[in-house]
Amino acid sequence: MSDDTLFAEVTDQANRANPYPLYHRLREKPVSRQRDGTYVVSSHAAIRSLMFDPRLSSEDLPPSQRPPTGNPFKDWIVNPIKNHIVNTHRPLIFRDPPDHDTLRGIVMEQFTIPRVRGVHRGVEDIVGELIDRLRDRDELCLVENFSYPLPVMVICRLLGVPEEDEQQFQEWASQLATALEPDARGDDETRQATAAAFDAIADYMSGLIREKRRHPADDMLSGLANPERGRPAMGDADLIATSVLLLVAGHETTVNLITNGMLTLLRHPDELERLRRDPERAPRLIEELLRYEPPVHFRTRKALDDIAVAGTVIPKDAPIVLLFAAGSRDPARFANPDRFDPDREDNQHFGFGGGLHYCLGAPLARIETEIALVALSRRLKAPRLLADPPPYRTGASLRGPEKLRIGIGGIA
Ligand code: HEM
Repeated sequence: MSDDTLFAEVTDQANRANPYPLYHRLREKPVSRQRDGTYVVSSHAAIRSLMFDPRLSSEDLPPSQRPPTGNPFKDWIVNPIKNHIVNTHRPLIFRDPPDHDTLRGIVMEQFTIPRVRGVHRGVEDIVGELIDRLRDRDELCLVENFSYPLPVMVICRLLGVPEEDEQQFQEWASQLATALEPDARGDDETRQATAAAFDAIADYMSGLIREKRRHPADDMLSGLANPERGRPAMGDADLIATSVLLLVAGHETTVNLITNGMLTLLRHPDELERLRRDPERAPRLIEELLRYEPPVHFRTRKALDDIAVAGTVIPKDAPIVLLFAAGSRDPARFANPDRFDPDREDNQHFGFGGGLHYCLGAPLARIETEIALVALSRRLKAPRLLADPPPYRTGASLRGPEKLRIGIGGIA
């Protein structure tokens, strides 16, 4: 295996269960040019310096291009218009300043403390409900029965999506998450399915936005759709792109943090027991999970100029991979990086990224995961893994188990 194909090994499904030895090899050259011209950045120091560098662009999503349908009206008029709207109103995670900062500021204003507190109570109820449903069972799949439904229910309630539409949102969210996987973006079938899911959710959201304008409620979408006079506001196309982003960015990531969390705790039963006895340990434990088994392993960027970093010059226009999960296990930054240690001090991981694009939903994700893991540790009796390693989803960037089978001796 030569060094300029190591990243292809990372994206290979065969290495999904344990990509960390590959990260250690990649880090031997902190900025490594791959055979296809991509520069993979894997040391903590190099990622950190690039994260704050304005010469890196997040506008690296290939243009939206709906495949031909054979219907001339759609192919020549409707789809080019849709492509144009999508390309000029990218979600803010794929935008650079100044547009990125304006859009981000508007969303941040809606993440109010009372709203996040309200979610807190909601999450406790949903978590309780999901665990109650496991009564009389001796086995469960944590993904299907717990981690998967929870974040979509939470984001729907925060946005103000009616409960009866939550199931549909779950399906859209999983299809749209593939747009965040660089290796799936080029595949025609995936692009077609993603465009169809985007069109469906965009139609749904414009209806919901109209409804929130007619009857504003105390939810985020009502807040975004009815800005106060004199405050910055977004047009409908950006509003749709933003709500879809919140759904996608907040879904699979949180599913994976909860699932990786339980997997790691079951592999470290002493830590599970400590959490059960002392729920106050949850915040540190979650920070360590974000470092040790993060839901987002890497994000892509594009170089806007020649950039010298860690002894290498990344040429203008080159695609860049910021390998967050490798930086978070860099022995130059963390002692015993491959050890799961919730008591670790100074835990500056890249689990939520950093810089301009630092995760907007981090407080919400922390609350959800904390409530979920504490409740699971207290209520599942004698939990044990039935398959280790579990099967993984295809995503190398949004990485997490597809299933997590757990045997239990009942619920408390
Ligand atoms: C455990 C759960 C989560 C993890 C691990 C996570 C991780 C991340 C990471 C690594 C980024 C940086 C992306 C980049 O640098 O390109 C990011 C951005 C973002 N996240 Fe999260 N996220 C989580 C949950 C959420 C939730 C619950 C929401 C919303 C409700 C959310 C909304 C966003 C948004 C909007 C951005 C883009 C911010 C920007 O571009 O300025 N995330 N997230």
